[in-house]
Amino acid sequence: MPGEIIDGKKISTEIKEGLKQRIEELKAKGSTPGLAAVLVGDNPASEVYVKMKAKACEKVGILSEVHRYQQELPESELLSKIDQLNREETIHGILVQFPTPEQISEEKVILAIDPTKDVDGFHPFNVGMMLAGKPTFMPCTPLGIVELLMRSGNDPSGKHVVILGRGSLVGRPLAPMLYQKAKGGNATVTVCHTRTHDLPSVTRQADILVAAMGKAKFVTADMVKPGVVVIDVGTNRIEDPSTKSGYRLVGDVDFDSVSQVAKAITPVPGGVGPMTIAMLLSNTVRSCEMLSTDRSTD
Ligand code: GUN
Repeated sequence: MPGEIIDGKKISTEIKEGLKQRIEELKAKGSTPGLAAVLVGDNPASEVYVKMKAKACEKVGILSEVHRYQQELPESELLSKIDQLNREETIHGILVQFPTPEQISEEKVILAIDPTKDVDGFHPFNVGMMLAGKPTFMPCTPLGIVELLMRSGNDPSGKHVVILGRGSLVGRPLAPMLYQKAKGGNATVTVCHTRTHDLPSVTRQADILVAAMGKAKFVTADMVKPGVVVIDVGTNRIEDPSTKSGYRLVGDVDFDSVSQVAKAITPVPGGVGPMTIAMLLSNTVRSCEMLSTDRSTD
């Protein structure tokens, strides 16, 4: 029997409904959450992501600004813009969409953002806080994965989670979030990467498998244990002449074969993607709640 499909779109809608309520409460107290997104260059995927984030903000009542710059923007100008946004009282979250053009160091960008407005959770201060198990902003995609597991009835506590990929956006931050002693954590975690020997023998041990290595349809049915819960983080464009755009999105998991043996699986699109955006909104609302409280007690 095919596995249950974990509907990230539906779960993210429920989360956004909850956020609307908190935003109304903030507005009643005189604060409106504000998110500034900065996009440098003309990467088509980044353009789509930024538009989706801005639209999602507007739908829940978050004030959204998008600052667009040409590909050639000098690094110093971007850093000045971040500095200005850091001081802007109406802005509670700052997001510089990655990747940035090569003249701009992503590390410098991350360090320039005020950690109290770092709704991406990339600043080393927030990464350190997370590793120390303290409340902080956590990166949106891993946070969305944890929420997706919890809200779909697949609490990772006590389970063996195998993560494929150690990238800075997903695999690296997700591992400590899943093994920390907290709600949504308490899992036994294995992180696999390009040097892992006999990958299928590891993936077959997973109760929960998270595929985040960026290789289209890499995980096949013979690589998983029957009854596994599969979270597919991949968004790979593959050519498809039957579509209007000439391509379609597929995950890192071969959905057709793996869904036959899995207990539950996320689709692509409609799985992790909408959760990432919901967590960005959630971090922005949280930032507004914290910054408003700080100001009112000054
Ligand atoms: N590029 C791909 N994913 C992300 C993300 O979560 N945040 C930012 N800022 N850029 C990205």
